[in-house]
Amino acid sequence: MKTLPRFPLAHLPTPLEPMPSLSKALGGPELWVKRDDQTGLAFGGNKTRKLEYLLADAQAEGADTLITAGAIQSNHCRQTAAAARRAGMHCILVLGGDEPERPEANTYLDLLLGAEIIWTPAERRGEQLERVMSESKEVGRSPYIVPYGGSSRLGAAGYAYAIQELQHQKTDFDWIVFATSSGGTQGGMIAGAELFTYDARILGISVDEAAEDVQDYVSGLAGRTTELMGAAHSFKTEDVLVNDDYLGGGYAVMGAAEKEAIQLFAHHEGLLVDPVYTGRAAAGLIDLVRKGFFDKKDKVLFWHTGGSPALFAEGYQADLLST
Ligand SMILES: Cc1ncc(COP(=O)(O)O)c(C=O)c1O
Repeated sequence: MKTLPRFPLAHLPTPLEPMPSLSKALGGPELWVKRDDQTGLAFGGNKTRKLEYLLADAQAEGADTLITAGAIQSNHCRQTAAAARRAGMHCILVLGGDEPERPEANTYLDLLLGAEIIWTPAERRGEQLERVMSESKEVGRSPYIVPYGGSSRLGAAGYAYAIQELQHQKTDFDWIVFATSSGGTQGGMIAGAELFTYDARILGISVDEAAEDVQDYVSGLAGRTTELMGAAHSFKTEDVLVNDDYLGGGYAVMGAAEKEAIQLFAHHEGLLVDPVYTGRAAAGLIDLVRKGFFDKKDKVLFWHTGGSPALFAEGYQADLLST
C-alpha cells in the first residue's frame, strides 16, 4: 500500500470510551463512542483527519491560500480556516447564506481565525468555488480548492487510516454508526475496512440526502480511495449502509428527536453532540436501539464527528434549554 504525504494537524489516536450510563438508560446493546470531536484543531471534528492529507497536497502544489465552501455553521469551514493558519496560509470561505448581523458560533470562529468570508445567499455546496479561485489568482494568490466537505479521495483517505487506528485500539465492534453527508467520512471508513480487514457494519445516518444518492456517491468515492492508497477495490451501492429515516425537518432544522438526543447524551455521558450532524445521528442511533434493530449482544460504536460549536448558535440555545 502507498504512504500518502500528511501534514500533521490532529491529536491521534482519538479516545475510545464506553457509554455505560446511556447503554443502561436505553436498555440496549453495549454503546461506545469514538471521540473525533477531540481531534484537537480549533474545537476538533471529522474534517481535521481529511485536512491532514489535503493540506499536504496543497503544500506540494505550492499553494498559499485554501478556498472552500459550506453552510453558514459549517464545521468543515471552521477547521479549514484553522488548518490554513497552522500552515501559514490564507483562507477564503464561501458560506451559503446572507451575512448575519452578528456572527455567532462557527462563523464567529471563522472570523477569529482570520478567514475571508464570501457570502452566497442561495448556495452552500461550493457552486462558486471556481469563480472565487479565478478571482484570487487575479489578485496574485496561489489558491488550492479544498472540496466541499473535504470529501475527495484524498480527504477520505484520512478516514481509511482512522479505521486502522480503531483496529489498533483493540476493541471489536459489530456496528459503527455516525452522521453522513458529503460522504468522505463514510467512503474513507468503507475503504479502510476493506484495506485493513475490519469487519464492522458501517452505518451512516444521513443528515440531508436520500439513501440511494449517498450509496451511489459513497461507493464510488470508496473505490477511488482504495485506488489512491494503492490497493484498488470496487464497491457496489449495496456495500454502503445508509439510513435516511431521520432527515426530519431538513438540513440544520433541530426537531424533537435531535433535541432529545442532545439532552440524553449530555445528561447520561456528559457528551456534547450538535444540533445539525451528530445530534441527528444520535437520534437515529437511539431510535434504532429502541426499535430493537441491534442485537442485545452487539457492541455498537457511535463515531462522534464533532460539531459542538453549533450549540452556541443562538437559535439552538434557547430551544435546547426550554422544556
Ligand atoms: C460534525 C459533522 N459530522 C458529520 C459530518 C458529515 O461528514 P461527511 O461530510 O464526511 O459525510 C459533517 C460534515 O460537515 C460534520 O460537520
